[in-house]
Amino acid sequence: MDDLFSLKKAFLEEIGSVDDLAGLQLVRTKYSGKKGLIRARLRDLSSIPPDKRPLYGSTLNDIKNFIEETIRNRELIFKTREKEQRLETEKLDITLPGNFTPFGRRHPVNQILSEIKDIFVSMGFSIEDGPEVENDYYNFEALNIPKDHPARDMQDTFYISDDIVLRTHTSPVQVRVMEKRDPPLKIISPGKVYRCDSDVSHTAMFHQVEGLMVDTGISFSDLKGVLELFIHSLFGADTPVRFRPSYFPFTEPSAEIDIGCIFCSGSGCGVCKTTGWIEILGAGLVNPKVFEMVGYNTSEYSGFAFGMGVERITMLRYSIDDIRLLYENDARFLNQF
Ligand code: PHE
Repeated sequence: MDDLFSLKKAFLEEIGSVDDLAGLQLVRTKYSGKKGLIRARLRDLSSIPPDKRPLYGSTLNDIKNFIEETIRNRELIFKTREKEQRLETEKLDITLPGNFTPFGRRHPVNQILSEIKDIFVSMGFSIEDGPEVENDYYNFEALNIPKDHPARDMQDTFYISDDIVLRTHTSPVQVRVMEKRDPPLKIISPGKVYRCDSDVSHTAMFHQVEGLMVDTGISFSDLKGVLELFIHSLFGADTPVRFRPSYFPFTEPSAEIDIGCIFCSGSGCGVCKTTGWIEILGAGLVNPKVFEMVGYNTSEYSGFAFGMGVERITMLRYSIDDIRLLYENDARFLNQF
């Protein structure tokens, strides 16, 4: 019996110093395991004298139950404690700010380009594309700008080879379309163009929208009507519009189109150089020489063409005074539009 009491005592001491589930498992194996101390005593029960056996047996059984129950209770306590600790470390702080992914937005030049396209599409124009790396022929010669023509000086060209250039305007697209299709034509060609030029109002790459309409009986008044409607849609119905005589090799007669200065309403300021007017477009009736190059019958067809810089229009719409701001990719600037 003494052996049983010292077993219980030893158990109580050991369990008292156990502090976690792993330690508890060791004690469990030692006492209630298959090869544990309790089993050993149960196995040896026959060696106890028969008269002492019932008391010994029931005491052993009590101790066995006590040990098992104590271990179960501690196990429950340790498991609960472990769960609480885990919950504590895994706790989510729902007041922390999330990972913010900023919303992108369309570049102001792209926004204005879309507006321009929408206006012309609503007037029945279709949109045409062309290459940015262009043959000298389409960029110049087919537009009545021969190799020795002084008008080549108007556009500072990036040459890739003698005959291949980065297009200096989107006008070559009109030639490419006319070569493929017969009139009537009503197209615009938006896209990137390149000139060796850089200051507050010029970048080496910028965007143009070219327009072309060809049909029987097209006159200058058609050009005026289309462009006035366009300008009034883009800048507001009371914007004054002025056609000023000009020169382009591919149009005859040619004009530059001004709008009343939107900064000073015509009274004169730094932006309009005190004239009250700001130039926004080049245009004219297609020079018959251009039609001849693509094989159109000049006695049957006439047409008009126009071209504009999208950055310039964007700057006017948003009062931006330096074109380079558009391409520095400073999100603080671009987010304003
Ligand atoms: N292509 C001309 C330029 O880039 C603009 C233009 C187009 C003028 C069509 C008249 C007609 O300067």
